[in-house]
Amino acid sequence: MLARNTFSLPTKLFLSYVLATVLTFQYCQAATTSPFHIETHGNSQPSSNNAEFSPKSFLSVSHPSFPSYLIRLTEPDIELCDPNVKQFSGYLDSVDNDKHFFFWFFESRNNPAKDPLVLWLNGGPGCSSLTGLFLELGPCQLNDYGNGTIHNPYSWNNNASIIFLDQPINVGYSYGSGDISDSESAAQDVYAFLQLFFERFPNYSDLDFHVAGESYAGHYIPAIGTEVTKGNRATSTESSTVPINLKSLMIGNGLTDPYVQYGYYKDMACNSTYGAVLDPSTCNKMERAYPECQQRIEACYEDPVPKKCVAASSICNNALLEPFYELSGKNPYDIRKECAVIDESLCDDKLGLLQDYLNRIDVKSAVGSSRYVNSYVNCNLQVNYMFQLTGDWMRPYVNHIPRLLDEDKVKILIYAGDADFICNWIGNKAWTLELEWSDRDAWRQAEDVEWNEVGEVRKSPDGRFAFLRVFNAGHMVPQDQPAHSLKFFNGWIHGGL
Ligand SMILES: *[C@@H]1O[C@H](CO)[C@@H](O)[C@H](O)[C@H]1NC(C)=O
Ligand SMILES: *[C@@H]1O[C@H](CO)[C@@H](O)[C@H](O)[C@H]1NC(C)=O
Ligand SMILES: *[C@@H]1O[C@H](CO)[C@@H](O)[C@H](O)[C@H]1NC(C)=O
Ligand SMILES: *[C@@H]1O[C@H](CO)[C@@H](O)[C@H](O)[C@H]1NC(C)=O
Repeated sequence: MLARNTFSLPTKLFLSYVLATVLTFQYCQAATTSPFHIETHGNSQPSSNNAEFSPKSFLSVSHPSFPSYLIRLTEPDIELCDPNVKQFSGYLDSVDNDKHFFFWFFESRNNPAKDPLVLWLNGGPGCSSLTGLFLELGPCQLNDYGNGTIHNPYSWNNNASIIFLDQPINVGYSYGSGDISDSESAAQDVYAFLQLFFERFPNYSDLDFHVAGESYAGHYIPAIGTEVTKGNRATSTESSTVPINLKSLMIGNGLTDPYVQYGYYKDMACNSTYGAVLDPSTCNKMERAYPECQQRIEACYEDPVPKKCVAASSICNNALLEPFYELSGKNPYDIRKECAVIDESLCDDKLGLLQDYLNRIDVKSAVGSSRYVNSYVNCNLQVNYMFQLTGDWMRPYVNHIPRLLDEDKVKILIYAGDADFICNWIGNKAWTLELEWSDRDAWRQAEDVEWNEVGEVRKSPDGRFAFLRVFNAGHMVPQDQPAHSLKFFNGWIHGGL
């Protein structure tokens, strides 16, 4: 979910989110000295609304190369979601910086000793990966009443083990007072998380590894890919980290190359296969506003300092996203649907139910959430705002892609539901065509081939790079096309897409 540009949100709403994310934390000091320490929470004062919360006991794991990090590990109550697979959850703690990242791991339903391992990330910035778990591709889905879960036969853990990670801090069940407001720093924490995870679970460290996510994860994922491959190059000299078997990156309806993608908001709103959702004069206005936006993004790409990048997001979002919010009456995540007012519910009733569900004390306790998480929100607009203030939104994370494809031989799949406006398929396909990489010419000449009657796919000659357009799906492809999503996901990670 790419949250709405918060520059235009009323201060009142903004402030209510600030207050919701002020969290207190006291860390059990003993954990830093003993590598295997059962956290007791003995001396801590939980917040009053968590009075009945009974925290799970955690096992802490440390790593010699990451002395300021620990993993606190527990086993969730598996009846909550997919009782038949092994699960772990807990926190990556960055002790010195007071950063605590929640994760939830599910083994593959098929063959966990052989099937690949996938890290899943939702976007925002500021949205919880639990929204992806419970509303898109996880082993269970929130039921229609919001009071329990149902088995998901199309879960992506059918043939892969999956880690859902809440990052950066203060997203979902993550918490802390440390400061993270750009995708590069977020990627460093993710790398530390992976190393500690593999330190504790060497039995998963040789598996094929993939990073998948959507929306603003189009920023996170290229940065994570670079952090992992950089770490891998250093492992030969620095023996205490393990090489990570990174095979591919998957980005769904992502924001990866704003310079190109902002050129296609007008096309998506005014000339998509689903019909125009804005009137011709608004379309013309968007067309006329684009050159200035483009210049601003170019300035940010050339010199990515906050001043230039913030100016670009402010000008571009006002000129090209606001008309849609103000005038179309449509849902920016699916232009086939109506959405009168875009507020923090993001036009999705199920999100509200999920937020209530994940705030239930019994649920928090069952999944191993910390008692320091006072209030779970699906999308933390304060985090979103901080990312915008640092200029992260418009930065050229696309520049990581050529090296990952060419030098590191990491495969990349870009997929997009074609009814999404906010990170639309037209702009996503366009950036893949603009990309400067070794197989550019062959890529540009490659054919779009019909895929399974619900999409079309373009592949580079060696299959390293692929673009999949998914028909009749919005921003959250696995939610709209569950069976076909599982099919392309399995095809991509096991061969056969
Ligand atoms: C996926 O899992 C199913 C059920 O366990 C199995 O029959 C199938 O062969 C697996 N597919 C792949 C590609 O591993
Ligand atoms: C991996 O290791 C964990 C604990 O160390 C164990 O519970 C789990 O069953 C193992 N899984 C596989 C597939 O080996
Ligand atoms: C959920 O709510 C529905 C409708 O109110 C009810 O029939 C059902 O029993 C509830 N389920 C649980 C697990 O509470
Ligand atoms: C509308 O989209 C079609 C198909 O992509 C394209 O050929 C045409 O040039 C577009 N029209 C305008 C006015 O942009």
